[in-house]
Amino acid sequence: MSRDLDRPPADMPSRRRFLSGAAALGAGALAGSAARAANPENLPPHVPDWSRYLGDGVDARPYGMPSEHEAHVVRRNVEWLTADPVSSVNFTPLHELDGIITPNGLCFERHHGGIAEIDPADHRLMIHGLVDRDLIFTVDEIKRFPRTNRVYFLECAANSGMEWRGAQLNGCQFTHGMIHNVMYTGVMLKDVLAHVGLKPNAKWLLPEGADASAMTRSIPMEKGLDDCMIAWKMNGEALRPEQGYPLRLVVPGWEGNMWIKWLRRIEVGDMPWHHREETSKYTDLLANGKARRFTWEMDCKSVITNPSPQAPLTAKGRNVITGLAWSGRGTIRRVDVSMDGGANWQTARLDGPSLDKSAHRFYIDFDWDGREMLLQSRAIDSTGYVQPTKDQLRAVRGENSIYHNNGIQTWLVRSNGEAENVEVSS
Ligand code: MTE
Ligand code: CO
Repeated sequence: MSRDLDRPPADMPSRRRFLSGAAALGAGALAGSAARAANPENLPPHVPDWSRYLGDGVDARPYGMPSEHEAHVVRRNVEWLTADPVSSVNFTPLHELDGIITPNGLCFERHHGGIAEIDPADHRLMIHGLVDRDLIFTVDEIKRFPRTNRVYFLECAANSGMEWRGAQLNGCQFTHGMIHNVMYTGVMLKDVLAHVGLKPNAKWLLPEGADASAMTRSIPMEKGLDDCMIAWKMNGEALRPEQGYPLRLVVPGWEGNMWIKWLRRIEVGDMPWHHREETSKYTDLLANGKARRFTWEMDCKSVITNPSPQAPLTAKGRNVITGLAWSGRGTIRRVDVSMDGGANWQTARLDGPSLDKSAHRFYIDFDWDGREMLLQSRAIDSTGYVQPTKDQLRAVRGENSIYHNNGIQTWLVRSNGEAENVEVSS
């Protein structure tokens, strides 16, 4: 069995070791169009190459792909993090995105047993246990329930998990990239459960995936009857195999491990399935040896995506600071940005739809005089909860956790524009 990212690695990698890796990644990232000098032959007053010839016709690209000049915009993994890519994670390139929607091909992936390649004709969803009638649905039968479209973030509970003991990974793709924000089309789980009929003592759900890991999680019935969905589309097209094609469970605002992909079975019971490894595994070990359990909701969090270590500032003067904020408990009310490590704060401009349990985009438009900055963002959600500093978080949770690190991130931006993952005490 390969080492599981969702367990604390025995040999916590040293920062130095990562930085040598980061240098290589940085070079790759900078190979994009921004870093290349322009070819003067293509600049005014010349007629550029692409204006002289006819281009491809409409039959050349039946499924469109990004420009070749965007080839550096990809999911990346950190090879030394896990022993094997089959039970591993790659990261959304947050520093290359804008708005609130994650393109399907860039949604981070987290698999415990690799990607199941499923023929939907051969896929079934069984619902059984404390129900009036056990039923097996085809994918088409699931699609006949009333449909709904909702935009939600999915954040792995281990996102930022490598940062509990100090600044570690040099790029928001790696520190915060275990998140994606997608519009799902699907049906409400409560409608499907009403169809099978719940027994009075039906209190828990155990969804299971059809992948080699047959992943399961216990989910309380109240959540299942509230806003959970069975989805088959993301951003308008079929789920990608990586994201659970043909069916996945959507568990809004709650940790990613509950969003079972390749959904093939839901057992209905009266207690959590404690014998299932997953139920006891996802806990947060505190300094006193006790552990937090059932920490399902993803707390309010934010990160500045630009500038950041993979996306340095390239010019003085007019600049845009931008980032993402989200909360598993509702919407984002406000985001504050500090340029001096948390001493002074200004309110950022939220732009784009403010949707429940979805990512929010924020901007600060500013003139940069080349001064060194300690950039931070701090989000406040609709419940009034304020994103804590890392020190505040450690005072309560210690440093043994892997999961639920929603502390404030700091980027040191040097006067040459380069940014680095650092921590300031607070
Ligand atoms: N579902 C199955 N069947 N198998 C898995 O390995 N990984 C879980 C969850 N659902 C997993 C799964 C974890 S830990 C996370 S964070 C999310 O899927 C990741 O979803 P994504 O790959 O769409 O980003
Ligand atoms: Co996860």
